[in-house]
Amino acid sequence: MPSTLPEGEVAPRDGALPDAAVREAGSRPLGFYLHVPFCASRCGYCDFNTYTATELGGGGSQASYAETAVGEVRMARRVLGELDRPVDTVFFGGGTPTLLPAADLGKMLAAVRDEFGLAPGAEVTTEANPESVDPAYLEALLEAGFTRVSFGMQSASSQVLRILDRQHTPGRALQAVKEATAAGFEHVNLDLIYGTPGESLDDWRGSLESALSVQPDHVSAYALIVEDGTQLARRIRRGELPMTDDDDLADKYVLADEMLSAEGLHWYEVSNWARSTAARCRHNELYWRGDTWWGIGPGAHSHVGGIRWWNVKHPSAYAERLNAGESPAHARETLDPETRRVERVLLEVRLSDGLPLEVLDEAGRAAAKSVLQNGLATIASTPPESKESTESAAGGRLVLTPRGRLLADAVVRDLLP
Ligand SMILES: C[S@@+](CC[C@H](N)C(=O)[O-])C[C@H]1O[C@@H](n2cnc3c(N)ncnc32)[C@H](O)[C@@H]1O
Ligand code: SF4
Repeated sequence: MPSTLPEGEVAPRDGALPDAAVREAGSRPLGFYLHVPFCASRCGYCDFNTYTATELGGGGSQASYAETAVGEVRMARRVLGELDRPVDTVFFGGGTPTLLPAADLGKMLAAVRDEFGLAPGAEVTTEANPESVDPAYLEALLEAGFTRVSFGMQSASSQVLRILDRQHTPGRALQAVKEATAAGFEHVNLDLIYGTPGESLDDWRGSLESALSVQPDHVSAYALIVEDGTQLARRIRRGELPMTDDDDLADKYVLADEMLSAEGLHWYEVSNWARSTAARCRHNELYWRGDTWWGIGPGAHSHVGGIRWWNVKHPSAYAERLNAGESPAHARETLDPETRRVERVLLEVRLSDGLPLEVLDEAGRAAAKSVLQNGLATIASTPPESKESTESAAGGRLVLTPRGRLLADAVVRDLLP
């Protein structure tokens, strides 16, 4: 299968990292992402690295996947030999992690716990398709040590779910939240998508009302991205469905922010709302702040102290590498200080904690003045409540206004002239 991964630099066969990268990693929060690259069927809009049984064609067995992934966790332990800190967050994503037996997810989590240890209060999340779980499955997850579930609800309109090729009814996602809460999960997220062709503003309002009715402590609302090469992109190109419209997306974002805020869910990243600081997704925060994460699984990306790498994409190629005792890394890159600064601007400006002004260069600081004058951001001077770091307190932080959040990409272009 042709790989669409970037080429990058050659990654060492044993996965070795420079000592300085491992040393830096020791001073920052540590997360593990475990990718599960299987789905029962493919949704027309999705271009994640995931495979249905037909697409796999017998390669990269689902039954042996957990054992293979455990092999990469053990390799991570060898590579990070000097690193002495427990794991703060673990996130199982997909694909559909919950297509595997709960015992398999438990086995992968146990490997992370055995090799590295989990920090007290560690966050352990799995994504779950609403139709892929039942009360017994959710109880087994809780028993295995999961603390958070993230359901892909997407919409409460059956017509929208049909256009998205979703396999569940609108009601199933709500029922799944109730089951997770009854099982004892304190933290439950719902993923929603807005801007599906044919979705009206009232449809979207209905989706938000439904989601809020089951009181999740976190909601992610994503504007539909029409990814090249997907079935959805082909249907739009053939004229079967209309293209998404920027004004419609903006109206729907504003409505989401109003309705979620009114129910006590506050934005902390442009597409993410949480009921409290404790309800934020700490794993995603770790990505947004350039901390340390090891991505286990085919196509997974990792970052340790300025070295970023990405694994081979196909589950068979992934298993072959690990079975041969080799790193599954396809290639890697070393981030120089300027690249790391640019990435901080790109990611931190999207956070409600804001972007420390000192991260901007001279041209960026000049651009920030017009961003402020145009009402796209304000300056906050107090340190963010959720972070140990107070580096930004002295110089202030740039925090987007609601209009700035709608134009976040344009703001970033201004700040990085
Ligand atoms: C990696 S998917 C996996 C979740 C799970 N398999 C599911 O579908 O319920 C995580 C989330 O990404 C979002 N997503 C995936 N493709 C997207 C797209 N093209 N545009 C916007 N959001 C997308 C969906 O909200 C989805 O729930
Ligand atoms: S959206 Fe989720 S269920 Fe659908 S194909 Fe993508 S990963 Fe699989």
